[in-house]
Amino acid sequence: MLSHIKLIYATKSRKLVGKKIVLAIPGSIAAVECVKLARELIRHGAEVHAVMSESAQKIIHPYAMEFATGNPVVTEITGFIEHVELAGDHENKADLVLVCPATANTIGKIACGIDDTPVTTVVTTSFAHTPIMIAPAMHSSMYEHPIVRENIEKLKKLGVEFIGPRFEEGKAKVASIDEIVYRVIRKLHPKSLKGKRVLVTAGATREYIDPIRYITNASSGRMGVAMAEEADFRGADVTLIRTKGSVPSFVENQIEVETVEEMLEAIENELKAKKYDVVVLAAAVSDFRVKNKAGEKIKSGGSLTLELEPTPKIIDRVKELQPEVFLVGFKAETSEEKLVEEARKQIERAGSDLVVANTLKAFGSEENEVLLVTREGVKKLPRMDKRELAERLWDEIERLIE
Ligand SMILES: Cc1cc2nc3c(=O)[nH]c(=O)nc-3n(C[C@H](O)[C@H](O)[C@H](O)COP(=O)(O)O)c2cc1C
Repeated sequence: MLSHIKLIYATKSRKLVGKKIVLAIPGSIAAVECVKLARELIRHGAEVHAVMSESAQKIIHPYAMEFATGNPVVTEITGFIEHVELAGDHENKADLVLVCPATANTIGKIACGIDDTPVTTVVTTSFAHTPIMIAPAMHSSMYEHPIVRENIEKLKKLGVEFIGPRFEEGKAKVASIDEIVYRVIRKLHPKSLKGKRVLVTAGATREYIDPIRYITNASSGRMGVAMAEEADFRGADVTLIRTKGSVPSFVENQIEVETVEEMLEAIENELKAKKYDVVVLAAAVSDFRVKNKAGEKIKSGGSLTLELEPTPKIIDRVKELQPEVFLVGFKAETSEEKLVEEARKQIERAGSDLVVANTLKAFGSEENEVLLVTREGVKKLPRMDKRELAERLWDEIERLIE
């Protein structure tokens, strides 16, 4: 591995370690994103090989992709039969062919089984045995062409997955690098939660004082989103109830709420409608709400006294509605001494099967240091990134629900 690749290799996660990805680049102007995309895939541990069409080589020079991937770039098919080497069905074959940014032309050729460019030849070679993902990029008028639509539908039916596009400024723009990387990880991840239905809450609730002011807390939603996305990678059917203002997520099935009442209603609706296997309550829910919320903006000047009343305890409702569900609660306390005591109370009162207990230092931070409390005992985990912690927590949950 080249030294400049080593510097970025698996620095963000190890999700794609051991995965060989062929990045097949057609001639869309969005090819300028491919340097960053390749390097982001490497930051998650992937080995990336670029293949470029002739048109792509007019938009970015192959040197840029050599630099980005640390591997030779295929710009033509020669006597070394590069298409078979990269995408043939042999022990060293690619794990994924990612066509990005896909032109209308290349999509059309793939849909018709034509291969007259390095990109289309690699796709034809891999079609029968390697997953193919396509991220289109073109003007809206091209994207709306009935034959282009037909080609996309035909390829979807044949098992090809499409990522994006995003519709902006009259264009069907290529999906963001973050979304492409997310979808690639989800595609290639081991599916240890396949067949499981998972409900996750994330973020800080808001309790309104008047129509524009509210009481909230410092939770960013990062931990809950990391839990939902990790379950999504592992193949679970995930519903994420996310509060307004939380960090965004690529989980497809999301419900946005603001107040404790809205969150409770969303959870109750879900638990009444579907049978869940695991419920993870990672949201930081307000314990109080304003008793007499003002209907109009409260005038400034003078002092103001608010009377607060307790909010309903969401966690207590979960096992009432689904006694069989595996319930994961989060508990935050100012001092570590109180944590275990309060976690045990939650196990007794709400029937939590696992309590993830942390001090308030985790709020708004990228990292967390937690105690795992169950009926059996307490386990302390070292301080780590919330994404890594989500992996550890799901390993633990999978072990416990087996
Ligand atoms: C600067 C530039 C930008 C282009 N951007 C796109 C694009 O975003 N989407 C698209 O479908 N075609 C785009 N084209 C047209 C394609 O390059 C053209 O259809 C070409 O034949 C595609 O060949 P390929 O699919 O083998 O790469 C662009 C052309 C140029 C010169």
